[in-house]
Amino acid sequence: MHTIVFATNNKHKLLEVQQILGNTFHLKSLVDIGFTEDIPEDFDTLEQNASQKAWYLYNRFGVDCFADDTGLEVDALDGKPGVYSARYAGEQRNSQDNIVKLLADLKGISNRKAQFRTVISLIISGEEHQFQGVVRGSIIDELKGSDGFGYDPIFVPEGYNLTFAEMELDLKNRISHRGLATQKLVAFLLGM
Ligand code: IMP
Repeated sequence: MHTIVFATNNKHKLLEVQQILGNTFHLKSLVDIGFTEDIPEDFDTLEQNASQKAWYLYNRFGVDCFADDTGLEVDALDGKPGVYSARYAGEQRNSQDNIVKLLADLKGISNRKAQFRTVISLIISGEEHQFQGVVRGSIIDELKGSDGFGYDPIFVPEGYNLTFAEMELDLKNRISHRGLATQKLVAFLLGM
């Protein structure tokens, strides 16, 4: 079976992708290959960070691998917080603080349109392939729902009346930025 390393230790993300892949490919996490350091993310675009993380792993371990990077891009804020989504309110990387800052930045602004965007960089046999997933939606003023993580309680995807934090995980995975990018990655791998 073909083994691919996913540059994550998020068990939930790993399981999600493994489920879509079936048993044609065997996924390993960073812990599975004995890597416990932080991977550098030095750039200011999702594309460059995903690419940097994947090449870092490839150059160090010589394994087929992929890495993802995600951001919430708000139209009225010129795409912010974008690549800085995790640390928008500071290096403590606290979701609650990030939401409070975002809602403060949007106070009095009527255009609430936004999107989540995920970029995945896959390196296979020394060649890089990128896949993108986008979900459009809007930012609401109060927090709703208790599932999910990050900005989920204030993001309502287009065509739905629920925030990501109010949705069944199955539904979120089907329509989300990460879900869509993952589906493209998996289609590519299965078509090889
Ligand atoms: P990462 O690149 O997947 O680590 O995502 C960076 C940051 O974007 C996270 O720390 C969250 O703040 C935010 N984020 C990513 N994906 C989601 C999501 O599905 N829902 C809500 N926030 C997310």
